[in-house]
Amino acid sequence: MPKYRIAWMPGDGIGVDVMDAARIVLDAIGLDAEYVPTDIGWSFWCTEGDALPHRTLETLRTCNCALFAAITSKPKEEAEKELIPELQGQGLVYRSPIVRLRQLFDLYVNLRPCRAFQGNPLNLRDDIDLVVFRENTQGLYAGVEFHPLPDDVRTALEEASPRMAAFQGVDSGDIALSCRIFTRQGCQRIVRQAFEYARKHGYPTVTLVEKPNVIRETSGLMVREARKIAAEYPGIELWETNVDAMAMWLVKNPQNYGVIVSSNMFGDIVSDISAQIVGGLGFAASGNIGDDFAVFEPTHGSAPKYAGKYVVNPTAMLLAVKLMLDWLGEREMAVRLEKAIAAVIAEGKVRTYDLDGSDGTLDVAREVARKL
Ligand code: NAI
Ligand code: MG
Repeated sequence: MPKYRIAWMPGDGIGVDVMDAARIVLDAIGLDAEYVPTDIGWSFWCTEGDALPHRTLETLRTCNCALFAAITSKPKEEAEKELIPELQGQGLVYRSPIVRLRQLFDLYVNLRPCRAFQGNPLNLRDDIDLVVFRENTQGLYAGVEFHPLPDDVRTALEEASPRMAAFQGVDSGDIALSCRIFTRQGCQRIVRQAFEYARKHGYPTVTLVEKPNVIRETSGLMVREARKIAAEYPGIELWETNVDAMAMWLVKNPQNYGVIVSSNMFGDIVSDISAQIVGGLGFAASGNIGDDFAVFEPTHGSAPKYAGKYVVNPTAMLLAVKLMLDWLGEREMAVRLEKAIAAVIAEGKVRTYDLDGSDGTLDVAREVARKL
């Protein structure tokens, strides 16, 4: 029996193209694994009313982790229209499969390494090597939201907070509320993972990105918990930076940062800035990681206009494979793969259109495989 069972989730559009690239590289590197195809994506929404069918969840529970590429999603009305006639008018609601996976498997770390590979013409600078840890399950994306504001919620808020006086006289139908919920344990576990990573990979700093001077309670809790955890890691310095300032620093002096940790929404924004300064969508990979399961993915979407053309850059997908190898504990393979990717970028002979080349998705994968 193979050592690992890995759920194989190409999804939609260019997801299929880049997963074919991943397979070329995995076969070349010789990972002892069985790749288990699973159903996920838009066609399953259209025909079954569920983009992440129950059988897929059952399969995932038998796997070590999952490799996921991309899925298509569409606004509410369009989603409803594309359902097969039998499923229309039943009040089915489309929910993002990746968000559901994060919640169902408690994948509380969103890990986004952003490294400038030498020779990538899209780098902002060549000396960037940072890693973003974004909390993946709570905060503003927890989904506790109201519009209109229900009477009982309004009354409770008015009794509990004098600040609600600012909204006196505004109709409840004209108020929308999204709650930013942090738990102590939620703050602790994301910060601890960031420090553990810094220790393991030799980063001298962990930068906490919040806004405690304004969002006093949630950001404040995160800062206090981070300081306690930092005290357990004497060799690693904790830097505290406000999110707005961080957006500027990341563009001005990104080379100064190592590990960065933040809550869900701030982390989402900071990780997109970080990805763009090292090449953007063709290079941005992430891991959604829990205590005993993980899903690795490129962060780009299904880019329908390029679907099946095999022209997009597979580097983000291949870097997701590298993250998976790391997580599985296959350190030697992970290092070998990253070196091969770096060598192909540095040589610049085989390039996709985003790097002004004319080679295909699989050409890049084969070149990486050759370097392995
Ligand atoms: P997208 O990421 O699919 O593509 C935007 C543009 O970025 C593309 O047209 C292409 O020019 C470029 N691009 C993306 N990946 C690339 C690659 N590997 N190499 C070179 N260029 C690349 O985002 P878009 O167009 O906003 O969304 C398309 C669909 O994907 C939508 O249905 C959206 O909901 C979905 N989506 C899914 C995500 C996921 O599966 N995690 C994330 C983002 C969007
Ligand atoms: Mg994002």
